[in-house]
Amino acid sequence: MPASALHLSDRHFRSIAQLIEGQVGIKLPPGKRLMLEGRLHKRVRALNYSGVNEYVETLFEADQLDSELTHLIDAVTTNKTDFFREPAHFTFMREAAVPSLLKAHSRNQLKVWSAASSAGMEAYTAAIVLDDMTRTGSRFAFRILGTDISSAMLQQARAAIYPRETISPVPPEFVKRYFLRSRDPLCDEVRVVPELRRTTHFMRMNLMDAKYPVDRDVDIIFCRNVLIYFERETQRKVVEQLCSHLRPGGYLMVGHSESMVHSVVPGLKQVQPTVFRV
Ligand SMILES: C[S@@+](CC[C@H](N)C(=O)[O-])C[C@H]1O[C@@H](n2cnc3c(N)ncnc32)[C@H](O)[C@@H]1O
Repeated sequence: MPASALHLSDRHFRSIAQLIEGQVGIKLPPGKRLMLEGRLHKRVRALNYSGVNEYVETLFEADQLDSELTHLIDAVTTNKTDFFREPAHFTFMREAAVPSLLKAHSRNQLKVWSAASSAGMEAYTAAIVLDDMTRTGSRFAFRILGTDISSAMLQQARAAIYPRETISPVPPEFVKRYFLRSRDPLCDEVRVVPELRRTTHFMRMNLMDAKYPVDRDVDIIFCRNVLIYFERETQRKVVEQLCSHLRPGGYLMVGHSESMVHSVVPGLKQVQPTVFRV
C-alpha cells in the first residue's frame, strides 16, 4: 500500500472525528490524526480498501455504518488496563468502603460496577479483593458487572484468559488462588478461576446512552480512565447518570487524572481526590 493511502484528508478526518464524538463521546482533536490513521490501517487492509479515505467514504454510504460501527469503535478506543491498576482504590475498597457499606445496610450483598471495563481486569481485581475479604472474616455476597462499548474487549473479559505477564501486579497468594495455568507448558496464558468468573458478568453499554440498563442500588462504581476522553459537558452528564445508579452512601471511583470531575459536577462529595460518595 503506498504511503499516501495511509493519510486521511482533512475532510475525512473531520467526519470520522464528528461521528466518533457523537456516538461514543471520545474527542479526536487534530493531534490524534496520526493515531487514527494507524488504527484504521489494519481495518482497511482487512477489508481490502485502497486506503483510509476510501474506507471513510464507503463508511458513510447507505447501510454501511451500522455494520461497521462496532469495528470502528474497537479501532478508536484506547483499552489499556491492568490487574490492580491504581491499587490505592482497591485498598480503599477493602479498608474503608466495604466496611462502611456493610455497617450502613442490613443487606449483605454488594453490587460493584466497572463502568468502562475494557478487558475485564478491573472487574476481576475487584472480585479478587472482595472474595478475599469473605475468606478473612467479612460475611457478605457480591456481584460484579462490567460494561464497555468495545465488543472485542467484552469478548476477552468474558473469556477471562490473559497473557501470563499481565498478572505480574497480582500478589502471589492471589495468583495461586484465583488463576489457572494451562496444562500445555508451551501456553503462556492464565485464566481466572470459574468461582470468580461466576460472580462477574459483562454487558455492552455506551456511557453516552440516555439511560443505563443497570440497577439503581449499586454500592461501588469504578469509572476510571475513560472520562478523560470526554468533553466537560459529557463528563458531567455521565457522572451524574452514574451517581443516580448508586445507593445512598455508595462510592464512585475515577482515574487518577480524572479528579477534575469534582469541579464539573456540583454537589459531589469528595472523600479522596479520586473517590466520591453520594
Ligand atoms: C483506557 S480503558 C480503561 C479501562 C479500566 N477502566 C482501567 O482503568 O483500567 C477505557 C475503556 O473505556 C471504553 N469506552 C470508551 N468510550 C466509551 C463509552 N462511550 N461507553 C462505554 N465504554 C467506553 C473503551 O472501550 C475502553 O475499554
